Amino acid sequence: MNQPRGVGVTAVFVAAARALESARDDRLFNDPWAGEFVRHSGWNPPIDEIDDASRDELATWVAVRTKFLDDFALDSVDNGCGQVVLLGAGLDTRAFRLPWLRQVTVYELDTPEMVDFKAAVLGDTTPDVAARAVVPVDLREDWPAALREAGFRSDVPTAWILEGLLLYLPDDAVETLMDGIGELSAPGSAIGATITNIDVAATMNDARVLRDTLISREGWLSMLHWSSTEDPVAWFDSHGWRATAVQTDEIAQRYGRTMPEESLLTQVRAGMRFLISAVRKQD
Ligand SMILES: C[S@@+](CC[C@H](N)C(=O)[O-])C[C@H]1O[C@@H](n2cnc3c(N)ncnc32)[C@H](O)[C@@H]1O
Repeated sequence: MNQPRGVGVTAVFVAAARALESARDDRLFNDPWAGEFVRHSGWNPPIDEIDDASRDELATWVAVRTKFLDDFALDSVDNGCGQVVLLGAGLDTRAFRLPWLRQVTVYELDTPEMVDFKAAVLGDTTPDVAARAVVPVDLREDWPAALREAGFRSDVPTAWILEGLLLYLPDDAVETLMDGIGELSAPGSAIGATITNIDVAATMNDARVLRDTLISREGWLSMLHWSSTEDPVAWFDSHGWRATAVQTDEIAQRYGRTMPEESLLTQVRAGMRFLISAVRKQD
């Protein structure tokens, strides 16, 4: 089995955080596959050896955004979306985990390396909850063609999920991605997304989240590209979407969680970690 490397390692961090959340008595969700992904990833040391403050911040951030986007996906399907597209799906298991209220197809797009690793770990043990189509493709290339080839229908309203993705793409690729999403979106389509300021992400290294792990400091910094936006609502509006942007701290409080104050991530955060839900504007 080829273990994740490069930007694929970030999906392992997310899985590690979901494994921590799943082990809590007051968990916001249960992802029984998350721990398996980490075990097969070759990540050493395990997440429970990271300093407490950094681990709590990472775990809370991932738990809150996962729950937020779980609810977003279920609501979108309840409101008429017949397809869910996970862009940069990584080790996301929503296709198996969520109690979909009606028949839905979940498309998962990520690099061929990530798709292969995920398939190798999952084996053939996953429940048949949603119809699932896996699309190995680089999102800087012609992913709309690959998505259509996999059966995607642009006449069916779609719920798009962009979780922990945009900051890893160059500015021009983000613009092209948004253009592609817009062209493929039937009326009634929706986007759920995370927007993280690049300065916040870069400090993760100082918080020792990545020390002695699969990525070097240089490797981590070299993955961060998108220059982001200070006004996500205006940015989505300019791409044809009516968005709501809420700070993660606020959503965390709704779920009875608090973002830890002691970590370096919190100390330097400039109010730039948003959870987004958006609907396609009518022409
Ligand atoms: C932080 S992970 C998030 C994964 C998933 N959305 C989640 O929240 O569990 C980022 C993911 O984006 C994927 N990714 C980054 N750049 C990509 C590209 N150019 N093409 C396809 N996938 C990419 C990585 O392989 C990785 O799985």
